[in-house]
Amino acid sequence: MGDVAIRVRGLRRSYGDLQAVRGIDLDVERGQVFALLGPNGAGKTTTVEILEGYRARSAGEVSVLGHDPARRERSLRERIGIVLQSTGVDPYLTVRETVELYAGFYPRPRDVREVLDIVGLSEKLDARVLRLSGGQQRRLDVAIALAGDPQLLFLDEPTTGFDPGARRQAWEVVRNLASLGKTVLLTTHYMDEAQNLADRVAVMARGEIVAEGPRRRSGIGTSRTRRSGSGSPRTISRCRPSSPRPRSGPPTATSCSSPTRPGSCTRSPVGRSGRGSSSRGSR
Ligand SMILES: Nc1ncnc2c1ncn2[C@@H]1O[C@H](COP(=O)(O)OP(=O)(O)OP(=O)(O)O)[C@@H](O)[C@H]1O
Ligand SMILES: [Mg+2]
Repeated sequence: MGDVAIRVRGLRRSYGDLQAVRGIDLDVERGQVFALLGPNGAGKTTTVEILEGYRARSAGEVSVLGHDPARRERSLRERIGIVLQSTGVDPYLTVRETVELYAGFYPRPRDVREVLDIVGLSEKLDARVLRLSGGQQRRLDVAIALAGDPQLLFLDEPTTGFDPGARRQAWEVVRNLASLGKTVLLTTHYMDEAQNLADRVAVMARGEIVAEGPRRRSGIGTSRTRRSGSGSPRTISRCRPSSPRPRSGPPTATSCSSPTRPGSCTRSPVGRSGRGSSSRGSR
């Protein structure tokens, strides 16, 4: 595998007649922040959940840290952290109790205080989850994903629905993860988010990768794009950051989810349910 964390070739997923993912190729290097950018319905979540082992693929080859995620091996689940697009945790637990609960299911968990420091929730250690703001709840989602000290993190729309300030704070969390040497695959609707955070960006639309390239200081990518799937990815050299990269500010994460909404998706730690730090069944 060398230094490749994720390798995807010819990945396809259909739901009945709908081809949600149409033969995509991806390579994510270890230690890289990789953004999958695309509009609603592009196939981002389908792709990410296949890589997480929560969704079955129709065709293609997938390797995540050297494993086929479809096998749902514990040795892989222990090395990945997942922030779902929509999640739920027990609203009556405190922040500390929540992270400790998940940390307890991993062989080499990260210290809870360290985890909360990374996501900027140290001051909320003893607050109940139901008292957290939406942005703080999303940070807690990231903290849970970090509890097992994973090498690879999947963040599905970590900032959707957040105001600009909260998004910038969320970016700091992702930068913290990158500085710890974690590999991060995130999805986003926002070009500026991809430009600000990712080492490499793939643009997805209608189930295909239509452009891919490295982000450079001056923009996303210029020359190193490649073909993937049946489409013809183009260069994304026109992309330019719309604002300077923020250098400081308190870390946060964001989001779109309703983590404590009764009846919403609930998490199941790795040791209990055989899943990672989330709760979706394989589909
Ligand atoms: N379980 C499912 N059954 C049937 N169709 C599905 C299912 N999940 C997703 N789809 C369809 O597959 C396509 C891709 O959905 P997906 O959730 O992967 O997109 P996405 O890029 O994550 O979108 P968003 O940005 O809105 O989260 C959409 O047309 C969606 O309606
Ligand atoms: Mg999605």
